[in-house]
Amino acid sequence: MNQKPVQGFVDLHTHILPGVDDGAKDLAEALELLTMAWENGTSHVVLTPHYRGRWRSNTPEFLRQRFAELSAEAAKILPNLTLYLGNEAGNVPEVGEKVAEGRVLSLNDSRYVLLEFDYTCSRIQLINGVMDVIGSGYTPVIAHAERYEIFRKNKKLAYEVLEVGALIQLNADSVLGKCGLLAKLCCSRLLKRGMVHFIASDAHDLQERPPVLRECFEHVSKRWGEEYAWELLRDNALAILTGQWR
Ligand SMILES: [Fe+2]
Repeated sequence: MNQKPVQGFVDLHTHILPGVDDGAKDLAEALELLTMAWENGTSHVVLTPHYRGRWRSNTPEFLRQRFAELSAEAAKILPNLTLYLGNEAGNVPEVGEKVAEGRVLSLNDSRYVLLEFDYTCSRIQLINGVMDVIGSGYTPVIAHAERYEIFRKNKKLAYEVLEVGALIQLNADSVLGKCGLLAKLCCSRLLKRGMVHFIASDAHDLQERPPVLRECFEHVSKRWGEEYAWELLRDNALAILTGQWR
């Protein structure tokens, strides 16, 4: 394939590592997803398989081996695409301790952990999960905050989690209104107040949840400014992956 120059979106949250969760089923689909991401303008992709439920049996060693296999194949067709590995950690008991012990992967072995919750979790469950990770010396990145009922209803919650040092990620589809009005309104409220750090695709497949960010980048640029859009879709993610966070 004819490689374009590095264009720049950094997708912090994807389920493209094949055969390890409800994302890409096999290597062929994973390579198609990575190609789609590249052609849409993404140059860095973080593979963040779920760590919850039955997927807790995927050990870090197994994931790293899968990651090495996918990286080798991707390099043949997309040599300028950069891949990283992490987990999307569920709010399981002692999640912080599991990260600290290396049983759950942080984002590119950084001090940042992508942390997800049940959609109907309570405020106290969410705060406890955040504090658990912080207590272990890591910074939680709250995955798709707009998808939790409590974040939609409780307007003070974002202030609370930012106050203790958590970071907030939104899904591009939600920002664009493709996941319903309530999710979109929640995104707009947080974006307007400058309370968001990352927008990612949370890609699972080619059709329903594809790894595309360009449309969202254009939307955010138009509404809230290009500088903020680059921060959300490139700079902040690159900063935590490379240890350069402010
Ligand atoms: Fe996810």
